[in-house]
Amino acid sequence: MCGITAYFGEKNGIPIVLEGLKRLEYRGYDSAGIAFLNNNTIEIIKTKGKIQELKSLVSDKNSNIVIGHTRWATHGEPNYINAHPHLSMDKSIAIIHNGIIENHSELKRELKEKYNFKFESDTDSEIIAQLIQYFYQGDFEDAFRKMLTKIEGAFGIVAIHKDHKQMICARKGSPLVLGVNSNEIFIGSDPSPFIEHTKDAIYLNEKQMAIIEKNSYKIKDFNGFNTQSEIETIPFGIESIQKQGFEHFMLKEIYEQAETIQNCFRGKVNHIENISIKINNPNRIILIACGTSYYAALVGKYLIEKTSHIPVIVEQASEFRYRQPMLFTSDLIIALSQSGETADTLEAIKLSKKLGCNIAGIVNVTGSSIAKECNQGIYLHAGPEIGVASTKAFTSQIVALNLLNLFLNKNPYYKLEMIEELKKLPDKVKEFLEHQEILKIAEEFKDSKYFLFLGRDINYPVALEGALKLKEISYNPAEGHPAGEMKHGPIALIDSTTPVIVILTKDNVYEKVISNMHEVKARKGKIICICDEINNEIKELSTHIIQVPKTSWEFSPIINAIPIQLFAYYIAKLNNREIDQPRNLAKAVTVE
Ligand code: AGP
Ligand code: GLU
Repeated sequence: MCGITAYFGEKNGIPIVLEGLKRLEYRGYDSAGIAFLNNNTIEIIKTKGKIQELKSLVSDKNSNIVIGHTRWATHGEPNYINAHPHLSMDKSIAIIHNGIIENHSELKRELKEKYNFKFESDTDSEIIAQLIQYFYQGDFEDAFRKMLTKIEGAFGIVAIHKDHKQMICARKGSPLVLGVNSNEIFIGSDPSPFIEHTKDAIYLNEKQMAIIEKNSYKIKDFNGFNTQSEIETIPFGIESIQKQGFEHFMLKEIYEQAETIQNCFRGKVNHIENISIKINNPNRIILIACGTSYYAALVGKYLIEKTSHIPVIVEQASEFRYRQPMLFTSDLIIALSQSGETADTLEAIKLSKKLGCNIAGIVNVTGSSIAKECNQGIYLHAGPEIGVASTKAFTSQIVALNLLNLFLNKNPYYKLEMIEELKKLPDKVKEFLEHQEILKIAEEFKDSKYFLFLGRDINYPVALEGALKLKEISYNPAEGHPAGEMKHGPIALIDSTTPVIVILTKDNVYEKVISNMHEVKARKGKIICICDEINNEIKELSTHIIQVPKTSWEFSPIINAIPIQLFAYYIAKLNNREIDQPRNLAKAVTVE
């Protein structure tokens, strides 16, 4: 979950690592720390607070071998002692770790009872440094590899030793990327920490390690054999990880959507047949994802079943992997993930692959674990999404699902019609964003205690996403329901103080949603109606109307998602919430 970065070179790496950590803070922000080599001693500076606080503690320090960590706690509360880096007992080794060491308790017990090791923290991570010390007999790399044979679970690890001008890192289940430059090497959980220094990156594969020394690096497998590595060019620049005048990344990312939607279909839309998915006649499609990506997948179900007539099952990865999923080798399994690192999703597709199914990914982060595991699918090309609450990735996922649908669909006229409509979408999004006045509506409801989101059919998942967005960043209770399901329970919660956000699109359930609005109105609920055309009935029923541009049924969840994202954003902003880094959450959930 956490963010890892490191520098090995000739410059003072401390400001570089701190700047890198700042960019990784979206991955975890419970605590932060760095360790660096200083004349054969390791110095550690940590804080329970955020990177900003760390900066004030290190201003006079200098080192060209530095590791840094921003934590999302899994084992041990987020306090100073548990903050990374962790030292071995003899203080010769410092490590940073992302992931979970599942057998840490047994290993810890053994080192304590048999060899008198003392542990300082409650983390699972400290065992890594202690094991390296235990195995160390003058060869740091050898001790590191022996440590790897003992630990189980998921990890991205970087370690330094006080007596070696070496930095060693390894990955299994958590991402690690090397940035390569002449005379310097960077490490990151993703490339953002070093993007302004180099665009040449090596994404470590599963069970690979890197041994970094002055002017050289070697990529090896866990047995110590050299392996091939490919230098890839990072496809985005520094501007995509800066706020560029926006108060929050989330707002910037909402406003980027005209562009990110276009980036998703550009290059593919005129060559749908070239989409790189091996089978195009699956008997069944299973979409697997978590959180917002799961809601995007639900849109995919409505879309593909109605227009391409292929059965689609949508699965939450965390549930799928622990039951006995009924899979057939003729199934096409598609993982949807912004980060490409979500542990549950990754494991679910590994399981499907093991059972002989064809797997593909709809992923944003290139070179990520899910992208690598699937080896085929559609990249979103939405650029880095830094706000913890997903926005632009959601709309791009729906574009990608539409591309997939067109790839599967047999009707050439339908394809042409959809492509024409899709090409118009970015301008519609832009037009809406330029004229929206959602802040005013949010002002009226900023103190509301409960929010209800209603939608039907292909826009029901948008209602779910609206409630999730609001919960995540404003901490207000909110629920999304199919509008027709409301009368079976949630209607009991409606009174004259309840804001009810209704998504009303001129489609085959339009009249049904209007009837549901009457049901809300009869209970005095305050309707905020997101609709693509206005008439007197809607005016009478609604307290506020947000009109969105008209598009086809297939793309309506995209255009409808934007007002619900802005609504959540403004409610959170008016409540002074930490919008880009909401409490308890992290961007890439690389733990189960
Ligand atoms: C979105 O706002 C959330 N923070 C979260 O639900 C997220 O969508 C989920 O963790 C899945 O992430 P992924 O798309 O990177 O796999
Ligand atoms: N499991 C480790 C801890 O709790 C690392 C968590 C993380 O990935 O941030 O400290």
